[in-house]
Amino acid sequence: MSSGQRDAGVSNPAHVAIIMDGNGRWAQMRGLPRQEGHRRGLDALRRTVRNASDLGIQVLTLYSFSTENWRRPYAEVSFLMGLLKHFVEKDLAELSAANVRVRIIGSRDDLAADLRRLVEHAETSTRANTGLVLVIAFNYGSRDEIMRATRRLAADAVAGRIDPAAIDEAAIARQLDTHDLPDPELVIRTSGETRISNFLLWQAAYAEFIFAPVMWPDFDRAAFEDALAQYRQRDRRFGGLSAPSDRSVGVA
Ligand code: IPE
Ligand code: IPE
Ligand code: MG
Repeated sequence: MSSGQRDAGVSNPAHVAIIMDGNGRWAQMRGLPRQEGHRRGLDALRRTVRNASDLGIQVLTLYSFSTENWRRPYAEVSFLMGLLKHFVEKDLAELSAANVRVRIIGSRDDLAADLRRLVEHAETSTRANTGLVLVIAFNYGSRDEIMRATRRLAADAVAGRIDPAAIDEAAIARQLDTHDLPDPELVIRTSGETRISNFLLWQAAYAEFIFAPVMWPDFDRAAFEDALAQYRQRDRRFGGLSAPSDRSVGVA
């Protein structure tokens, strides 16, 4: 298959990023506390990791706590912190056995020391794994990420380590939390909301977006496959022109 065909959306994306939204509404619709929605959201996360591996996705990024989510009531914020801790403590061995490499993106400065250590341990202990790369965006916000990257570049410039004229797109990308990851080709948001909410603004510059009505706890294999099928129908032009038929006229 030529790369032109691949860009036309024939094959599955290598990197899928998901804004896991709708836990609260899922619970509310059933008369349950929001926390129950988050618990069921964790089940959906586990299921999605297995499905992604199974479907041959190479990188799966999951937005699980944004820099804006601190605005929620203290009880909900601490529940979500606890849920991440629980997930890493409980699932790390199984993930590692499944050859999953774990990466966490987002700011670590505001995290409690024990959570920070846990996150570091998840990354270092799975570093050599060669299967699915599972990226958890936790305390992540794109603007915060770009701000942190800019500060580092500015500090390097002031210290004379880098010439400002040499700061190109690649130099910026190298400073982002995602420096070792490819850009996502597909971003899925569940719950029917049609906004980005500060997720991967730089990296998703040319991603395809799918806004699925399903609430995150109900996101299953069929919903995942449906999103991938939609992706394969997309015509990705990257500012150029559609591939094959126009080419038949030839270029002089
Ligand atoms: C997504 O579900 C989980 C997080 C943002 C942490 P929500 O908690 O945003 O659920 P809704 O959007 O209120 O339904
Ligand atoms: C986006 O969902 C963040 C995560 C899924 C972690 P939100 O529920 O926080 O987004 P808004 O507030 O509806 O934009
Ligand atoms: Mg939400």
